[in-house]
Amino acid sequence: MKKDIHLGRRAFIKTAAICSFAVTLAGIPLASYFISPALKKGTGKWVDFGSVQDLNPGRIEMLSYEFMVKDGWQVLPQRGFVWAKTEAANKIHIFSSTCTHLACNVIWREEEKIFECPCHSGRFDADGQPIAGPPTKPLSILDHKIEGKNLLVYLTI
Ligand code: FES
Repeated sequence: MKKDIHLGRRAFIKTAAICSFAVTLAGIPLASYFISPALKKGTGKWVDFGSVQDLNPGRIEMLSYEFMVKDGWQVLPQRGFVWAKTEAANKIHIFSSTCTHLACNVIWREEEKIFECPCHSGRFDADGQPIAGPPTKPLSILDHKIEGKNLLVYLTI
């Protein structure tokens, strides 16, 4: 009789161990399905800004964008703008609009030929170099390419 009880306990522990293992195995894909979107780091994408012939040589122009981004479990619109400085047809610089101080958006002032940040009066010259206020780093220059006749800019999302 005592032997039966011992075997029963052994069988119970063995069954419990197998069940725990099975639950753990099944839980890994489920946990990664729910957790991985939240841990996913931002990447980038090429955004089409249309015909490069619409840019005016000698000018700095705002190019705005809007696209949908998957953020965790949500799909949200991402809106913003960059600044295109066109020196010649094939010589274009694309500046990020993000101030290098605390990330407000800078605005190009054509009459003064500067980028101005409204948050703390940071100023950058037409090459994106800081000239006044708190910013110490230049505006980021974004990668771009021309495909066909269109200007594509690589944006971090
Ligand atoms: S965020 Fe631009 S100057 Fe502070």
